[in-house]
Amino acid sequence: MGNNDELHVVTGAFGYTGKYITQKLLSLGKKVRTITGHPNRPNPFGNKVAISPFNFDKPAELVKSLRGAVTLYNTYWVRFSYKQVTFDRAVENTKVLIRAAEEAGVQRMVHISITNASESSLFPYFRGKGILEKAICQSGMSYAIIRPTVLFGHEDILINNIAWLLRRFPFFAILGSGAYKLQPVFVEDVAELAVKAGQYGENVIMDAVGPEIYAFHEMVQLIAEKVHSKAKLIYLRPELTLFFSRLIGYVVNDVILTRDEVYGLMSNLLISGNPPTGRTRLSAWLADNGESIGVKYASELGRHYH
Ligand SMILES: NC(=O)c1ccc[n+]([C@@H]2O[C@H](COP(=O)([O-])OP(=O)(O)OC[C@H]3O[C@@H](n4cnc5c(N)ncnc54)[C@H](OP(=O)(O)O)[C@@H]3O)[C@@H](O)[C@H]2O)c1
Repeated sequence: MGNNDELHVVTGAFGYTGKYITQKLLSLGKKVRTITGHPNRPNPFGNKVAISPFNFDKPAELVKSLRGAVTLYNTYWVRFSYKQVTFDRAVENTKVLIRAAEEAGVQRMVHISITNASESSLFPYFRGKGILEKAICQSGMSYAIIRPTVLFGHEDILINNIAWLLRRFPFFAILGSGAYKLQPVFVEDVAELAVKAGQYGENVIMDAVGPEIYAFHEMVQLIAEKVHSKAKLIYLRPELTLFFSRLIGYVVNDVILTRDEVYGLMSNLLISGNPPTGRTRLSAWLADNGESIGVKYASELGRHYH
């Protein structure tokens, strides 16, 4: 299981998934360093977590930040291409990180990917993840690749913002039929899987999926019920839904939904053919958190670009 003097590096410990991975590692008494794009952000872990910037453009500095680590937990990725931070750039940055980890002598990489990642996907998000899975499998490190579907938890964006829209508007636009499926997974369950997988030696690729599968419109209905929304679900063509999401995005200064996300979701890429690996049910979590979810809008651009 490793000893507690060993260093573990987590990308994005002040973000969403990375924060829960860090919490779990610290609760096991492990030493943690984070590599982040926001080294000056308030550090909720105080002096328990050392901080280094990403330094993708200075690989030698990145190697220094990784030197002495046994395991790298990588959450780094972008939700959509925006300005200079494109999917291609995120793939290249992650390759720099993988090479730096190898050079620093990191033994194991736990990488957060996505269900149905594939090099041949039509969707750049899934394709980039597929390319990186291959690069990790070909690296000199042992690996655990964790493939979550859509996450839920306190700092979540997607499910939070569905709740936000349901609380504020008399209508909620469902993309197409709404019958396509998704299998949400609790962020803390993903962190637990990641940290467990970090402690094994063998190479694994596993889906991180919750115990419940929903048709998209059923999930929206469930969220509506839990936040006491009376919004009527209307079924619209995807392009029209995208148009409305852009209008609202203009008001909240964010990208609410991308074309890739729309068609990725409608292609049933957010479910797994394997048994669930997460325990927490979205329905139970919503029952406990219905009062707080969606009270505030969660901004992707606010989190990463402002
Ligand atoms: N959220 C979901 O529903 C979901 C579903 C399936 C898979 N995943 C995967 O899970 C992993 C973690 O996702 P998360 O939602 O927990 O992400 P997150 O904490 O918001 O971000 C993870 C890391 O990526 C960096 N990052 C994110 N967007 C960036 C941008 N536009 N420019 C530069 N750096 C950026 C963050 O930088 P900072 O350190 O500066 O914050 C952080 O280090 C990702 O690999 C994602 O693909 C997420």
